[in-house]
Amino acid sequence: MRIGVLTAGGDCPGLNAVIRSVVHRALTGHGDEVIGFEDGFAGLLDGRFRKLDLEAVSGILARGGTILGSSRLERARLQEACENAKDHSKDYGIDVLIPIGGEGTLTAARMLSDAGLPVVGVPKTIDNDISSTDRTFGFDTAVGVATEAIDRLKTTAESHQRVMVVEVMGRHAGWIALESGMAGGAHAICLPERPFDPADLCAMVEERFARGKKFAVICVAEGAHPAPGSMDYGKGAIDQFGHERFQGIGTALARELEHRLGKEARPVILGHVQRGGTPTAYDRVLATRFGWHAVEAAHRGDFGRMTALRGTDITMVPLADAITELKTVPGWRMDEAESVF
Ligand code: F6P
Repeated sequence: MRIGVLTAGGDCPGLNAVIRSVVHRALTGHGDEVIGFEDGFAGLLDGRFRKLDLEAVSGILARGGTILGSSRLERARLQEACENAKDHSKDYGIDVLIPIGGEGTLTAARMLSDAGLPVVGVPKTIDNDISSTDRTFGFDTAVGVATEAIDRLKTTAESHQRVMVVEVMGRHAGWIALESGMAGGAHAICLPERPFDPADLCAMVEERFARGKKFAVICVAEGAHPAPGSMDYGKGAIDQFGHERFQGIGTALARELEHRLGKEARPVILGHVQRGGTPTAYDRVLATRFGWHAVEAAHRGDFGRMTALRGTDITMVPLADAITELKTVPGWRMDEAESVF
Protein backbone atom coordinates (compact mmCIF):
# COMPACT_ATOMS: atom_id res chain seq x y z
CA MET A 1 0.00 0.00 0.00
CA ARG A 2 1.13 3.57 -0.64
CA ILE A 3 -0.01 6.06 1.98
CA GLY A 4 -0.09 9.85 1.68
CA VAL A 5 0.03 11.89 4.88
CA LEU A 6 -0.35 15.63 5.45
CA THR A 7 -0.79 18.08 8.33
CA ALA A 8 -3.18 21.01 7.86
CA GLY A 9 -4.60 23.92 9.85
CA GLY A 10 -2.94 25.44 12.90
CA ASP A 11 -0.01 23.38 14.15
CA CYS A 12 -0.17 21.50 17.41
CA PRO A 13 2.30 19.61 19.64
CA GLY A 14 2.13 15.92 18.72
CA LEU A 15 1.83 16.21 14.92
CA ASN A 16 5.32 14.83 14.43
CA ALA A 17 4.55 11.95 16.77
CA VAL A 18 1.62 10.95 14.50
CA ILE A 19 3.76 11.18 11.35
CA ARG A 20 6.47 9.07 12.98
CA SER A 21 3.95 6.49 14.13
CA VAL A 22 2.29 6.25 10.71
CA VAL A 23 5.65 5.73 9.04
CA HIS A 24 6.81 3.10 11.54
CA ARG A 25 3.60 1.11 11.48
CA ALA A 26 3.21 1.31 7.72
CA LEU A 27 6.81 0.43 6.84
CA THR A 28 7.72 -2.11 9.49
CA GLY A 29 4.25 -3.52 10.16
CA HIS A 30 2.97 -3.76 6.60
CA GLY A 31 5.82 -3.12 4.18
CA ASP A 32 4.01 -0.01 2.86
CA GLU A 33 5.41 3.14 1.34
CA VAL A 34 4.60 6.57 2.81
CA ILE A 35 4.80 9.98 1.17
CA GLY A 36 4.28 13.27 3.00
CA PHE A 37 2.64 16.24 1.29
CA GLU A 38 4.15 19.60 2.17
CA ASP A 39 2.22 22.48 3.72
CA GLY A 40 -1.10 20.69 4.07
CA PHE A 41 -3.55 20.37 1.19
CA ALA A 42 -1.49 22.93 -0.74
CA GLY A 43 1.16 20.22 -1.25
CA LEU A 44 -1.48 17.81 -2.53
CA LEU A 45 -2.77 20.36 -5.02
CA ASP A 46 0.64 21.58 -6.15
CA GLY A 47 2.33 18.18 -6.27
CA ARG A 48 4.81 18.94 -3.49
CA PHE A 49 5.61 15.78 -1.54
CA ARG A 50 8.53 13.68 -0.36
CA LYS A 51 9.08 10.08 0.56
CA LEU A 52 9.03 9.39 4.30
CA ASP A 53 11.25 6.55 5.48
CA LEU A 54 12.41 5.63 8.97
CA GLU A 55 15.38 7.98 8.70
CA ALA A 56 13.08 10.89 7.79
CA VAL A 57 11.12 10.50 11.03
CA SER A 58 14.05 9.72 13.29
CA GLY A 59 14.28 12.02 16.31
CA ILE A 60 10.99 13.87 15.76
CA LEU A 61 8.86 12.37 18.54
CA ALA A 62 9.55 15.17 21.00
CA ARG A 63 9.71 17.95 18.44
CA GLY A 64 6.84 20.47 18.29
CA GLY A 65 5.38 21.76 15.03
CA THR A 66 5.29 19.55 11.95
CA ILE A 67 8.16 18.43 9.73
CA LEU A 68 5.75 18.55 6.77
CA GLY A 69 4.65 22.15 7.26
CA SER A 70 1.03 23.23 7.50
CA SER A 71 -1.37 25.72 5.97
CA ARG A 72 -5.05 26.56 5.86
CA LEU A 73 -6.94 25.94 2.64
CA GLU A 74 -9.06 28.68 1.12
CA ARG A 75 -12.54 27.64 0.04
CA ALA A 76 -11.83 28.01 -3.68
CA ARG A 77 -8.82 25.69 -3.45
CA LEU A 78 -10.80 23.17 -1.42
CA GLN A 79 -13.34 23.10 -4.22
CA GLU A 80 -10.50 22.51 -6.68
CA ALA A 81 -9.20 19.67 -4.51
CA CYS A 82 -12.63 18.01 -4.42
CA GLU A 83 -13.15 18.31 -8.16
CA ASN A 84 -9.90 16.42 -8.71
CA ALA A 85 -10.23 14.09 -5.73
CA LYS A 86 -10.00 10.84 -7.69
CA ASP A 87 -7.09 12.13 -9.78
CA HIS A 88 -5.06 12.76 -6.63
CA SER A 89 -4.88 9.07 -5.82
CA LYS A 90 -3.95 8.26 -9.43
CA ASP A 91 -1.41 11.09 -9.79
CA TYR A 92 0.49 10.15 -6.67
CA GLY A 93 -0.30 6.44 -6.70
CA ILE A 94 -1.69 6.62 -3.18
CA ASP A 95 -4.22 4.14 -1.86
CA VAL A 96 -5.21 6.32 1.05
CA LEU A 97 -4.69 9.84 2.35
CA ILE A 98 -4.22 10.43 6.08
CA PRO A 99 -4.87 14.13 6.77
CA ILE A 100 -4.07 15.21 10.33
CA GLY A 101 -5.96 18.31 11.36
CA GLY A 102 -8.71 20.11 13.19
CA GLU A 103 -12.27 20.97 12.31
CA GLY A 104 -11.45 22.68 8.99
CA THR A 105 -9.13 19.87 7.89
CA LEU A 106 -11.60 17.17 8.85
CA THR A 107 -14.35 19.00 6.94
CA ALA A 108 -12.09 19.06 3.88
CA ALA A 109 -11.25 15.38 4.50
CA ARG A 110 -14.93 14.51 4.55
CA MET A 111 -15.53 16.40 1.29
CA LEU A 112 -12.60 14.67 -0.39
CA SER A 113 -13.82 11.32 0.89
CA ASP A 114 -17.31 11.99 -0.48
CA ALA A 115 -15.71 12.96 -3.79
CA GLY A 116 -14.04 9.55 -4.03
CA LEU A 117 -10.61 9.83 -2.38
CA PRO A 118 -9.97 7.11 0.23
CA VAL A 119 -9.35 9.04 3.45
CA VAL A 120 -8.61 8.15 7.09
CA GLY A 121 -8.56 11.26 9.29
CA VAL A 122 -6.61 11.95 12.46
CA PRO A 123 -8.00 14.75 14.68
CA LYS A 124 -5.71 17.31 16.26
CA THR A 125 -6.19 20.64 18.00
CA ILE A 126 -5.00 22.25 21.17
CA ASP A 127 -8.59 23.48 21.62
CA ASN A 128 -9.94 19.93 22.29
CA ASP A 129 -13.19 20.93 20.58
CA ILE A 130 -13.70 18.07 18.13
CA SER A 131 -16.82 16.00 18.73
CA SER A 132 -16.59 12.20 18.86
CA THR A 133 -13.20 12.11 20.56
CA ASP A 134 -12.73 12.54 24.28
CA ARG A 135 -9.38 14.23 23.75
CA THR A 136 -7.21 15.61 21.00
CA PHE A 137 -3.43 15.60 21.34
CA GLY A 138 -1.93 19.05 21.85
CA PHE A 139 -4.54 19.97 24.44
CA ASP A 140 -2.61 18.54 27.37
CA THR A 141 0.50 20.47 26.32
CA ALA A 142 -1.44 23.73 25.94
CA VAL A 143 -3.10 23.32 29.33
CA GLY A 144 0.32 22.69 30.88
CA VAL A 145 1.76 25.87 29.38
CA ALA A 146 -1.23 27.96 30.47
CA THR A 147 -1.23 26.45 33.96
CA GLU A 148 2.43 27.28 34.44
CA ALA A 149 1.73 30.83 33.30
CA ILE A 150 -1.07 31.20 35.86
CA ASP A 151 1.19 29.82 38.62
CA ARG A 152 3.87 32.32 37.71
CA LEU A 153 1.48 35.25 37.37
CA LYS A 154 0.08 34.68 40.84
CA THR A 155 3.36 35.48 42.58
CA THR A 156 3.99 38.67 40.64
CA ALA A 157 0.33 39.71 40.96
CA GLU A 158 0.55 39.29 44.72
CA SER A 159 3.80 41.26 44.98
CA HIS A 160 2.21 44.21 43.18
CA GLN A 161 -1.39 43.85 44.37
CA ARG A 162 -2.59 43.58 40.81
CA VAL A 163 -5.28 41.91 38.80
CA MET A 164 -3.86 39.73 36.02
CA VAL A 165 -6.04 38.83 33.06
CA VAL A 166 -4.55 35.81 31.25
CA GLU A 167 -5.92 35.27 27.76
CA VAL A 168 -5.62 31.72 26.44
CA MET A 169 -6.64 30.16 23.12
CA GLY A 170 -10.11 28.80 22.48
CA ARG A 171 -12.28 30.37 19.81
CA HIS A 172 -15.63 28.69 20.43
CA ALA A 173 -14.79 26.21 23.15
CA GLY A 174 -13.19 27.17 26.44
CA TRP A 175 -11.52 23.88 27.35
CA ILE A 176 -8.03 25.37 27.74
CA ALA A 177 -9.36 28.22 29.90
CA LEU A 178 -11.43 25.82 31.98
CA GLU A 179 -8.71 23.27 32.69
CA SER A 180 -5.76 25.64 33.05
CA GLY A 181 -7.93 27.92 35.18
CA MET A 182 -8.83 25.00 37.43
CA ALA A 183 -5.29 23.60 37.55
CA GLY A 184 -3.74 27.00 38.19
CA GLY A 185 -6.38 28.04 40.74
CA ALA A 186 -7.53 31.11 38.82
CA HIS A 187 -10.01 33.26 40.71
CA ALA A 188 -12.39 33.48 37.75
CA ILE A 189 -12.68 31.81 34.35
CA CYS A 190 -14.44 33.34 31.33
CA LEU A 191 -15.46 31.01 28.52
CA PRO A 192 -16.98 31.51 25.06
CA GLU A 193 -19.85 29.26 26.15
CA ARG A 194 -21.02 31.56 28.96
CA PRO A 195 -21.03 35.37 28.56
CA PHE A 196 -19.54 37.07 31.62
CA ASP A 197 -20.46 40.26 33.43
CA PRO A 198 -17.48 42.48 34.38
CA ALA A 199 -19.50 43.63 37.42
CA ASP A 200 -19.28 40.07 38.83
CA LEU A 201 -15.51 40.03 38.26
CA CYS A 202 -15.18 43.41 40.05
CA ALA A 203 -17.21 42.08 42.97
CA MET A 204 -14.92 39.04 43.18
CA VAL A 205 -11.78 41.22 43.19
CA GLU A 206 -13.22 43.62 45.79
CA GLU A 207 -14.21 40.72 48.01
CA ARG A 208 -10.68 39.24 47.81
CA PHE A 209 -9.03 42.57 48.62
CA ALA A 210 -11.44 43.09 51.53
CA ARG A 211 -10.26 39.86 53.15
CA GLY A 212 -6.60 40.62 52.62
CA LYS A 213 -5.98 38.65 49.41
CA LYS A 214 -4.82 41.66 47.47
CA PHE A 215 -4.45 40.16 44.01
CA ALA A 216 -6.47 38.15 41.51
CA VAL A 217 -5.85 36.12 38.36
CA ILE A 218 -8.63 35.83 35.79
CA CYS A 219 -8.31 33.27 33.01
CA VAL A 220 -10.18 34.26 29.86
CA ALA A 221 -10.58 32.35 26.59
CA GLU A 222 -9.88 34.42 23.47
CA GLY A 223 -13.43 33.77 22.26
CA ALA A 224 -15.15 34.86 25.50
CA HIS A 225 -17.63 37.72 25.22
CA PRO A 226 -19.15 39.99 27.84
CA ALA A 227 -22.91 39.74 28.39
CA PRO A 228 -24.81 42.11 26.08
CA GLY A 229 -24.75 45.66 27.41
CA SER A 230 -22.31 44.90 30.25
CA MET A 231 -19.17 46.26 28.57
CA ASP A 232 -18.14 47.90 25.34
CA TYR A 233 -16.63 45.09 23.22
CA GLY A 234 -17.42 44.56 19.56
CA LYS A 235 -17.53 41.46 17.41
CA GLY A 236 -14.71 41.16 14.90
CA ALA A 237 -14.96 40.73 11.13
CA ILE A 238 -14.77 37.28 9.54
CA ASP A 239 -11.51 36.37 7.74
CA GLN A 240 -11.11 34.34 4.50
CA PHE A 241 -11.16 31.06 6.44
CA GLY A 242 -14.47 31.89 8.13
CA HIS A 243 -12.85 32.74 11.49
CA GLU A 244 -13.80 35.79 13.56
CA ARG A 245 -10.93 38.24 14.00
CA PHE A 246 -11.00 38.73 17.75
CA GLN A 247 -10.67 42.21 19.22
CA GLY A 248 -8.48 41.15 22.16
CA ILE A 249 -10.73 40.35 25.09
CA GLY A 250 -7.80 40.03 27.53
CA THR A 251 -6.63 43.58 26.91
CA ALA A 252 -10.16 45.01 26.81
CA LEU A 253 -11.12 43.29 30.05
CA ALA A 254 -7.97 44.36 31.92
CA ARG A 255 -8.61 47.95 30.83
CA GLU A 256 -12.25 47.74 31.91
CA LEU A 257 -11.40 46.28 35.33
CA GLU A 258 -8.68 48.86 35.96
CA HIS A 259 -11.13 51.62 35.12
CA ARG A 260 -13.94 50.23 37.28
CA LEU A 261 -11.84 49.13 40.25
CA GLY A 262 -9.18 51.82 40.35
CA LYS A 263 -6.64 49.03 40.81
CA GLU A 264 -3.84 48.02 38.48
CA ALA A 265 -4.84 45.33 36.00
CA ARG A 266 -2.52 43.78 33.41
CA PRO A 267 -3.36 41.65 30.38
CA VAL A 268 -1.12 38.69 29.49
CA ILE A 269 -1.80 37.14 26.10
CA LEU A 270 -0.30 33.65 25.89
CA GLY A 271 -1.05 33.20 22.19
CA HIS A 272 1.04 30.77 20.16
CA VAL A 273 3.32 29.92 23.09
CA GLN A 274 0.57 27.40 23.91
CA ARG A 275 1.03 25.70 20.55
CA GLY A 276 4.79 25.68 20.28
CA GLY A 277 7.46 23.44 21.73
CA THR A 278 7.65 19.85 22.85
CA PRO A 279 4.48 17.82 23.50
CA THR A 280 3.79 16.34 26.91
CA ALA A 281 4.12 12.59 27.46
CA TYR A 282 0.32 12.28 27.31
CA ASP A 283 0.14 13.99 23.92
CA ARG A 284 3.02 11.92 22.51
CA VAL A 285 1.29 8.70 23.53
CA LEU A 286 -2.12 9.72 22.18
CA ALA A 287 -0.60 10.95 18.90
CA THR A 288 1.38 7.71 18.51
CA ARG A 289 -1.73 5.60 19.13
CA PHE A 290 -3.73 7.65 16.61
CA GLY A 291 -1.03 7.09 13.97
CA TRP A 292 -0.94 3.34 14.57
CA HIS A 293 -4.73 3.03 14.36
CA ALA A 294 -4.95 5.19 11.24
CA VAL A 295 -2.67 2.78 9.38
CA GLU A 296 -4.63 -0.23 10.61
CA ALA A 297 -7.88 1.44 9.51
CA ALA A 298 -6.38 2.08 6.07
CA HIS A 299 -5.54 -1.61 5.73
CA ARG A 300 -9.08 -2.58 6.72
CA GLY A 301 -10.45 -0.17 4.11
CA ASP A 302 -12.14 1.78 6.88
CA PHE A 303 -12.34 5.00 4.85
CA GLY A 304 -14.33 8.18 5.52
CA ARG A 305 -13.61 7.82 9.22
CA MET A 306 -11.17 9.19 11.79
CA THR A 307 -9.40 7.91 14.87
CA ALA A 308 -10.98 8.86 18.18
CA LEU A 309 -10.31 8.35 21.87
CA ARG A 310 -13.26 6.91 23.79
CA GLY A 311 -12.38 6.35 27.42
CA THR A 312 -8.99 4.66 27.11
CA ASP A 313 -9.68 2.96 23.76
CA ILE A 314 -9.00 4.20 20.25
CA THR A 315 -11.96 3.67 17.92
CA MET A 316 -12.90 4.79 14.42
CA VAL A 317 -15.79 7.24 13.98
CA PRO A 318 -17.38 8.69 10.82
CA LEU A 319 -15.82 11.99 9.75
CA ALA A 320 -19.37 13.28 9.37
CA ASP A 321 -20.04 12.89 13.11
CA ALA A 322 -16.84 14.68 14.05
CA ILE A 323 -17.66 17.90 12.23
CA THR A 324 -21.38 18.39 12.65
CA GLU A 325 -20.94 20.32 15.87
CA LEU A 326 -18.09 21.50 18.05
CA LYS A 327 -17.53 19.94 21.45
CA THR A 328 -18.06 22.86 23.80
CA VAL A 329 -17.76 23.02 27.59
CA PRO A 330 -21.00 21.87 29.23
CA GLY A 331 -22.48 24.07 31.95
CA TRP A 332 -21.88 21.47 34.64
CA ARG A 333 -18.10 21.55 34.03
CA MET A 334 -18.16 25.30 34.64
CA ASP A 335 -20.27 24.80 37.79
CA GLU A 336 -17.64 22.37 39.12
CA ALA A 337 -14.86 24.87 38.44
CA GLU A 338 -16.75 27.74 40.06
CA SER A 339 -17.19 25.85 43.30
CA VAL A 340 -13.52 26.41 44.15
CA PHE A 341 -13.17 30.07 43.12
O1 F6P B 1 -7.56 26.15 16.30
C1 F6P B 1 -6.51 26.24 17.18
C2 F6P B 1 -6.13 27.64 17.45
O2 F6P B 1 -5.07 27.47 18.29
C3 F6P B 1 -7.20 28.56 18.05
O3 F6P B 1 -7.39 28.41 19.42
C4 F6P B 1 -6.66 29.91 17.70
O4 F6P B 1 -7.64 30.90 17.68
C5 F6P B 1 -6.14 29.68 16.35
O5 F6P B 1 -5.69 28.35 16.31
C6 F6P B 1 -5.07 30.65 15.95
O6 F6P B 1 -4.41 30.18 14.83
P1 F6P B 1 -3.59 31.03 13.78
O7 F6P B 1 -2.97 32.17 14.48
O8 F6P B 1 -2.61 30.04 13.27
O9 F6P B 1 -4.57 31.45 12.73
